[in-house]
Amino acid sequence: MAALNDPIPAGRDDWWRHAVVYQVYVRSFADSDGDGVGDLPGITSRLPHLAGLGVDALWITPFYTSPQHDHGYDVADYRDVDPLFGQLSDADDLVARAHELGLRVVVDLVPNHTSDEHEWFKAALAAGPGSPERARYLFRDSEDGNPPNNWESVFGGPAWTQVEDGQWYLHLFDSTQPDLDWRNPEVPAMFEDVLRFWLDRGVDGFRVDVAHGLFKEASLRDQVVEEGKRASSGQVNTDHSMVSLDLKDEPMWDQPEVHDVYRAWHRVLDEAGPDKMAVAEAWTQTAESMAAFVRPDELDQAFNFAWLLADWSAEAFARVITDTLAAVEPVGASPTWVLSNHDVVRHVTRYGGGEQGLARARAATLTMLALPGSSYIYQGEELGLEQVDVAPEDRQDPAYLRTGEAGRDGCRVPIPWSGAQAPYGFGPGTTQPWIPQPAEWATLTVEAQSADPSSTLSFYRDALRLRRDFAWSAGEDVELLDLGADVLAFRRGPLTAVLNCGDAPVALPEGEVLLASGPVDGKLPSDTAVWLR
Ligand code: GLC
Ligand code: MG
Repeated sequence: MAALNDPIPAGRDDWWRHAVVYQVYVRSFADSDGDGVGDLPGITSRLPHLAGLGVDALWITPFYTSPQHDHGYDVADYRDVDPLFGQLSDADDLVARAHELGLRVVVDLVPNHTSDEHEWFKAALAAGPGSPERARYLFRDSEDGNPPNNWESVFGGPAWTQVEDGQWYLHLFDSTQPDLDWRNPEVPAMFEDVLRFWLDRGVDGFRVDVAHGLFKEASLRDQVVEEGKRASSGQVNTDHSMVSLDLKDEPMWDQPEVHDVYRAWHRVLDEAGPDKMAVAEAWTQTAESMAAFVRPDELDQAFNFAWLLADWSAEAFARVITDTLAAVEPVGASPTWVLSNHDVVRHVTRYGGGEQGLARARAATLTMLALPGSSYIYQGEELGLEQVDVAPEDRQDPAYLRTGEAGRDGCRVPIPWSGAQAPYGFGPGTTQPWIPQPAEWATLTVEAQSADPSSTLSFYRDALRLRRDFAWSAGEDVELLDLGADVLAFRRGPLTAVLNCGDAPVALPEGEVLLASGPVDGKLPSDTAVWLR
């Protein structure tokens, strides 16, 4: 598949290696039927926006049949579309239209757990202890009336729920998301079929949810918890902004057996074609453990959350770049970079919000887009959207409902497309979206920003257009340059990128300025990045 403006060199099937992938959070992108919830026909109708933005692919969060307790990450039927989002033919139409526009389509696969409304889990409850139906999940007894071990759910509270007959089942996330037992051969067999089902419908790849989960240490032993700290299941903390970078005892994550699954999936993808890919969501503890997921016979990419977690400092960014490149180079995978997604606080807000937060967000984005490998961008970041402080009565994230902490609703507010008041063209008519949009978004719509050459949207379009000229040809080597402790600078092929994380303006190195993230006048102001040639 090659579109007119496809920068991928002829004869290469590994399109993802230097792709820019745009994450669509299906509920919040575009609503076609006026029920206030985004849907597949809504996405299809807005694909020209993505083509015009200049991305190479889109990744769509789960749209399968689901009771929506975790907004689709609780799948009841992996082979069908939830009526909220449309039907199977809408998925086919979306893929076909995307391909016409030269966009690849990556769909989300949720293999760690099912919904409690999946037919397997309903059968497991009905069949009772010791049954083969229960053996697809992790049901255990407990002697003392307490949960079988001390693990906590990522969303807060114990990772176990007791059923009527006294047994407990494990759920690393919400109690409506029972974890599967991947040591049971029925489980991998089912997911290979699901992969084939979507490959047959023409999708180009998969984003693998909780890819480091799947296997737990077989004994399901207690997690060793440092004194004074609570047991936790790692991943994001309950405020969904940070993970602790201290190495922890994690018997629930990143077990060696998981890699056999990805070797098998690699073969399934290969059978479907050389241009099929998979990207892992794996909140592993080190760059090396991340790289294990992208060995040549496993998955193709893994999200690099270290980039998103780095503090605003040249040194921190440089360290992540060095560690990432060193980790993926030996396995031959391409690195990835990401600043925002549907689970974390939007990066404008993480960087302090307001004018400074936006300046930093644009600068970090420009820096990211200069690096070799793929960049994953999250819907709305091209508009410079901030995290929204969603009123408690409007919050729906199970993490909030389980813990009372802010949760992830604030990065999931529906996109403002046009017009002066909510729903800003998100859907037809005046139906308000499932999470209210703030009044300040009137000036941030796609329509308003398209008309303004200095808007964040215009900046993203410029950056992505320029990037297409060098993404593949500039090579994979990055040479860090020393321009002082506050400055991150590197050369990649003909391109030099400079980011000023300090408080004072710095001199620019020689070269023609191709693009800047903000005003540049002789010197490079703080919180600003440039590309030079
Ligand atoms: C992943 C998803 C997140 C979801 C969780 C459980 O981390 O990104 O949104 O809640 O998995 O499936
Ligand atoms: Mg809808």
